[in-house]
Amino acid sequence: MLSPAIQLTDALKSISRNDQIKTYIRQSEELYPLLWKAARRFVTGESKVEAIDVANQLLAKGYAVSVEYIGENTSTVEECEKVKDEFLAVIEGLGGGSSRESISLDLSHIGLTVSKSLAYTNLLELAEKAQESGISIMIGMEESSKTDAILDIYKRVTDQYPNVGVTLQAHLHRSQQDLKELLHFPGRIRLVKGAYQESAGTSFSRSTELNDRYLNMAMQILRAKHPVSIATHDEVVLQELELRYELTSGTYAEYEMLYGIRPERISELKRRGNSCRVYLPYGQEWYLYVCHRIAENPENLYQAVADMIHPFEGEGSLDYE
Ligand code: FDA
Repeated sequence: MLSPAIQLTDALKSISRNDQIKTYIRQSEELYPLLWKAARRFVTGESKVEAIDVANQLLAKGYAVSVEYIGENTSTVEECEKVKDEFLAVIEGLGGGSSRESISLDLSHIGLTVSKSLAYTNLLELAEKAQESGISIMIGMEESSKTDAILDIYKRVTDQYPNVGVTLQAHLHRSQQDLKELLHFPGRIRLVKGAYQESAGTSFSRSTELNDRYLNMAMQILRAKHPVSIATHDEVVLQELELRYELTSGTYAEYEMLYGIRPERISELKRRGNSCRVYLPYGQEWYLYVCHRIAENPENLYQAVADMIHPFEGEGSLDYE
């Protein structure tokens, strides 16, 4: 019998994939503003101006930043072009003056759902513009049905533009093998556990086994002195890594956490001299993203309900030291 917390996590991850619910919420004049109050804790704003404002505050405090216009599975060429233009405007807005700025994107947001070649050409254009501006790009990793296509596009682009990196999900069984290959490419690897619901045959669920796998992969990347973002909020993993490896010893390694999650912990890591990056999502397509954040920590559900009644006011970089 699964615990209520695990059942809630599974249920939230399932409804997060339901396009009908997503469209209904997006179009509802009552529900959207209500749920937005709960989303606000995890999303910097609905517009790039708000995200860039938070980015500038965090840069001034010594963090690196990664800004994402949230969305996925864009279904027409016209929409994909609009999304690409939005990312071009974010690159422009960030400016790249400190070389600690990056953008994050999902390839299905800029074209992969329409065709692989569209995602590839749009990424190339963004990579070129970002490189000129001294900005890096991090490709997010999506469901396992897309992993081959995403890695293939990444490998073709990073050979020309080493400012482009890719996310690897430790929970997929295949990732150990993928890592061996990725170490031969120049781009940064962002190591995450994996947010998507996958079958037991293809992935580990949250467990000690998964933590060991994560640590093992992190150590392989660190020992290879390959650029890496250790992207986790898990205290067990963070403490174990701190014991095994001093991340301050190289500029190629950094910690990265999601906006609004454990700000006190990343502040502490920064105080101790580590390079730290905060991931800053914005936009109106936050439904899937916020469902994942609540599913990962069911206590966030209580918080979300409370936020709908008494809206969250700790906006911007206030919680980050
Ligand atoms: P895990 O989920 O095992 O949680 C361990 C502990 O961390 C929890 O008990 C809690 O204490 C804390 N914690 C975790 N999540 C929390 C939350 N939402 N609120 C409060 N506390 C929380 N995934 C993916 O599939 N593709 C991608 O491209 C990315 N990109 C990405 C970028 C960055 C910068 C990060 C940090 C994460 C991602 N992810 C991702 C998400 C990632 O796969 C994973 O789902 C989350 O980071 C949660 O996993 P943890 O490693 O934090 O541990």
